[in-house]
Amino acid sequence: MPVDLTNARPLAWDSATLDADTKEMLDNLQPNILRAHVREHLSLLFIRFNDISDGKRFLRTIATRHLKSARKHLEEVRAFGKDGRPGTPYVGIGISKAGYRDLGHSVEDLRRFGDRAFRDGMKRRIAEVNDPAVTEWEAAYQREIHAVVLIGDARPEPVAKLRKEILGQLPGTARVLGEETGAGMRNPAGDGIEHFGYVDGRSQPLFVADEVAKEPRKHWNPAFPLGNVLVADPFAPDANRHFGSYFVFRKLEQDVRAFKEIERDLADALGLTGADRDRAGAMLVGRFKDGTPITEKARAGGGPVGNDFTFDADTGDKCPFSGHIRKTNPRFDSIRNVLMARRGQTYGERADRPWDDAPPETRPSGGVGLLFMAFNSSLENQFEFTQRDWADNADFLNPGTGHDPVIGQGVRDIKVAFPKVWGRPEQSAPQAQVAQTVTMRGGEYFFMPSLAYLRGL
Ligand code: HEM
Repeated sequence: MPVDLTNARPLAWDSATLDADTKEMLDNLQPNILRAHVREHLSLLFIRFNDISDGKRFLRTIATRHLKSARKHLEEVRAFGKDGRPGTPYVGIGISKAGYRDLGHSVEDLRRFGDRAFRDGMKRRIAEVNDPAVTEWEAAYQREIHAVVLIGDARPEPVAKLRKEILGQLPGTARVLGEETGAGMRNPAGDGIEHFGYVDGRSQPLFVADEVAKEPRKHWNPAFPLGNVLVADPFAPDANRHFGSYFVFRKLEQDVRAFKEIERDLADALGLTGADRDRAGAMLVGRFKDGTPITEKARAGGGPVGNDFTFDADTGDKCPFSGHIRKTNPRFDSIRNVLMARRGQTYGERADRPWDDAPPETRPSGGVGLLFMAFNSSLENQFEFTQRDWADNADFLNPGTGHDPVIGQGVRDIKVAFPKVWGRPEQSAPQAQVAQTVTMRGGEYFFMPSLAYLRGL
């Protein structure tokens, strides 16, 4: 039975009745696509090969020695849940269009990648998503990157060890053009946060039955078909059974000080007092810092961060139409195919505590941010569509409601209003949109091929 990419029934990956094709798919799929791999510590190596056979040998060696399959990962997660046995580190490989070309695939061959954005590469897509000119990107990303190797684990030591080993296997003809180090941050409740201090990574399309089973789903169904992230691997031995995923990487620097000033100024402008001042930032993000969706007023007594909500009953009097999570997932049925699997990680060190109420002056204004990463079945219709048609579009959802205040790019030249009181229709006087505090520093589009392809190189 061919692998069913369209069915939203969650994948019962360990079922005795699982068909042979899906089993083969799981044995050849890279981990971290269908289910997030732990990557509290993460190293990314951006590589350029200058010799075809050396490049192939390197990728084949890494794949054979260090890459586990999606199935092995799912088994490890289960074992960890049962008796706390830690799994093995994550190693992932992505290849850019330039990488495939220089590994010997002809331009004609590359057309077998259905995704136009991937075939162009990120540098040729800057106009699509209002990105800064390539000359403003960090030097490493201005170069032509062939491949990215990701190494992740819960602890730093295994990452350091593997990084050294992998670099040791790099042929003399290849170069590491750039390197990023991600390190997860958690708030006192133990939830993963990003640098503005908000819980992140909570809402995801889920594919695997074990994960879906844990989620309440009265309002929002988190189960998605495999087709949201998987496509046939065009160069694998058997494209019907060997799959891969398009991977977007973007280094997004965050000016935390400016964002905190904006939160303070917005609270002042709206006359918010006491605990209600937190609503200023929450209206920009769509969730409070502790992850509570702003469609709910407060999370009673802690507990897990909820995701079982929609905006159906909210006409913009709780979450503004521009709120980051409303822009990037307005939660109605016809947009479900746009949602990608986000696998980002924070980078940069800081001495302050992102979740507390320390004054803006004590916050970093650079050097920290998000290594935004996401798996897509179409970069054009998912990542780029989200950035351009939603985040950068002041009229998305409702005319004149503004850019996404967190990630929107482009000129923010219209005035916007905010609900003065939570859940009440009265709007503030129109005011300038908040300034842009997230800056793209470079990135690339990759394809994460099947293990069958990599091992056969
Ligand atoms: C530095 C940049 C960014 C920051 C600080 C940020 C922050 C956040 C936060 C705090 C959440 C809420 C947590 C959650 O629901 O999982 C979130 C959710 C989300 N973000 Fe971002 N984000 C950034 C970049 C991006 C980019 C570039 C995109 C896509 C173009 C994106 C798309 C999403 C999506 C799809 C969700 C989930 C919405 C939902 O399903 O409710 N984010 N982000």
